Amino acid sequence: MNASEENGGKGLQVILDRRSVRDFTTEPVSGETLDRLVRAGMSAPTARNMQPWSFVVVTGRETLDGLAGGLPYGKMLGTSPAAIVVCAVTELANGQSVELAVVDCTCASENILLAAEALGLGAVWVASYPYDDRMAHVRSVLGIPGEVIPLCVIPVGHPATSKPPIDKYKPERIHRERW
Ligand SMILES: Cc1cc2nc3c(=O)[nH]c(=O)nc-3n(C[C@H](O)[C@H](O)[C@H](O)COP(=O)(O)O)c2cc1C
Repeated sequence: MNASEENGGKGLQVILDRRSVRDFTTEPVSGETLDRLVRAGMSAPTARNMQPWSFVVVTGRETLDGLAGGLPYGKMLGTSPAAIVVCAVTELANGQSVELAVVDCTCASENILLAAEALGLGAVWVASYPYDDRMAHVRSVLGIPGEVIPLCVIPVGHPATSKPPIDKYKPERIHRERW
């Protein structure tokens, strides 16, 4: 093991500490910080480097409340100061499948969740895809075209409480050399 590996590597602690945060203080998140989160999202790997995505950054209270209104498990959007909506744009993927674009955008979404943790912020994945009614709601609130897939809504804010990390490591889920 080299020194970096022994110390856990520069990003490993962020990965191990990340939790879904659903309670936020009223402190706003700056536009610059939200931009850093989106930049982290855009750093994700994508199939054939197509980067088939767009992001909607939302800070308007009415719009956040509007999103909360149609997302059954997204009520925390009613108190988060901001949200980033990750959208799969298959048109940008040069014939690549919808499934691959969704996988690519999932990588971007996880990057955003990890970047939020790294910056001391809280965030959570709120599902839109694959539910037709939820995607229709997000499209209608944000004016997203019908062919674009709003994958998830990520409320972002300063955590109101701290959540301890959970160790999810399960050795029985690992097969070695063969299943
Ligand atoms: C595809 C996906 C959909 C999710 N949908 C929601 C959701 O709609 N609302 C929510 O509060 N959390 C949602 N979550 C967050 C999970 O509930 C959370 O990751 C899980 O309970 C584990 O907790 P942790 O993130 O703190 O480790 C979702 C996570 C994923 C990956």
